[in-house]
Amino acid sequence: MPQRSHAPFLHAIVGCGRVAPNHVDGFRALAEPWEVGWACDREPARAREFAAAHGIAAATASAAEVFADPAVTSVSLTVDHAQHAPLAEQALTAGKHVLVEKPLALSVADGERLVRLAADRGRVLSVVSQHLYDPLVRAVHRWVKDGVLGRLLHCRVSLESSREEPYYADSYWRGTWAGEGGSAVINQGYHCLDVARTLCGELRVVASVARCGELFATMETEDTLSALLAAGEVPVAFSVTVGSTVTWRSRIELIGSAGTVEFDIDHPASLHRATGSAELERLAAVERARAAEEEPPGIDYYGVSHRRQIADFAQSVQRGEPMTASTGNGLRMAALITDLYAAAGLDRAQRREA
Ligand SMILES: NC(=O)c1ccc[n+]([C@@H]2O[C@H](COP(=O)([O-])OP(=O)(O)OC[C@H]3O[C@@H](n4cnc5c(N)ncnc54)[C@H](O)[C@@H]3O)[C@@H](O)[C@H]2O)c1
Repeated sequence: MPQRSHAPFLHAIVGCGRVAPNHVDGFRALAEPWEVGWACDREPARAREFAAAHGIAAATASAAEVFADPAVTSVSLTVDHAQHAPLAEQALTAGKHVLVEKPLALSVADGERLVRLAADRGRVLSVVSQHLYDPLVRAVHRWVKDGVLGRLLHCRVSLESSREEPYYADSYWRGTWAGEGGSAVINQGYHCLDVARTLCGELRVVASVARCGELFATMETEDTLSALLAAGEVPVAFSVTVGSTVTWRSRIELIGSAGTVEFDIDHPASLHRATGSAELERLAAVERARAAEEEPPGIDYYGVSHRRQIADFAQSVQRGEPMTASTGNGLRMAALITDLYAAAGLDRAQRREA
């Protein structure tokens, strides 16, 4: 095992699965003296292998051991959805800053409790929303705010992705109400909704239809959901499926009185259409000419913006600056997802207890 140095800011990874490499990469990319000092997975062999593969000094199967280490500044919680709230509570109570993967929690009440706890303890709590940091998303957000699209009239948001049966069958949590708390929306579709909320404003659920328990015998949660939402007076059409033959394809379209944009949050993100005015076309040309994105450290459609959010998190821990991905954002996403499921007739709390 490599020796741990004495960096002033020591970070720990709790959950060494698919997304964990993006977190190690993000903390390693920081200019200031941060170090990833613990790899923790409740599967001891996975923790050891992950630590060895990423040059992390210490490995353990016990999150409690990590939280009890006074040298640890902050933790990434990269575990199944059901454990986000209890582990975040333990980490915050132990005085750690917390970067939790999405979603914040499976219920709004749990999320609110965490937000209060973080505020009481004076600790940073941030929910991963990496696509809010994508340069293209930020550019489109500026165009909306600056009125380049005129008055927003309509938004269409979709994600089609393909998941094979082993993705659910080989996982202790995916495809279950108890562990994942839903599937297509809360897991894959989350990012598209997050971006749409940011661009259009708070979303209200008007109607929602879901298909559950039909794609694979081992999957009890929804594989497909379509919904009509509204941002104020603006209709927003949302749909997501994990039953496509296409690995990953997102689309976000904003139709305004002065211009239309169509883009994705895949990797690398693309601006497919920007029409309506010479000014919009000029701004779009600048975006298209932007330097190509660096290689992603993990699965390509996770993108590279974990690095940007982790840099923001580190600034917030070190200097107390507010973050782009605020806890309020994570909380509003938890509420929106709860409403989407409820409107589709899925009582998640009841299903989690069944
Ligand atoms: N932001 C993104 O783009 C993105 C991408 C993928 C996953 N995610 C999110 O990341 C989280 C993890 O997803 P994943 O695909 O990496 O899952 P995964 O199943 O691949 O990994 C989870 C790991 O956590 C470990 N674990 C479970 N309970 C633990 C505990 N109490 N202590 C220590 N380790 C524990 C498991 O053994 C497993 O190795 C989820 O919330 C998911 O939605 C986000």
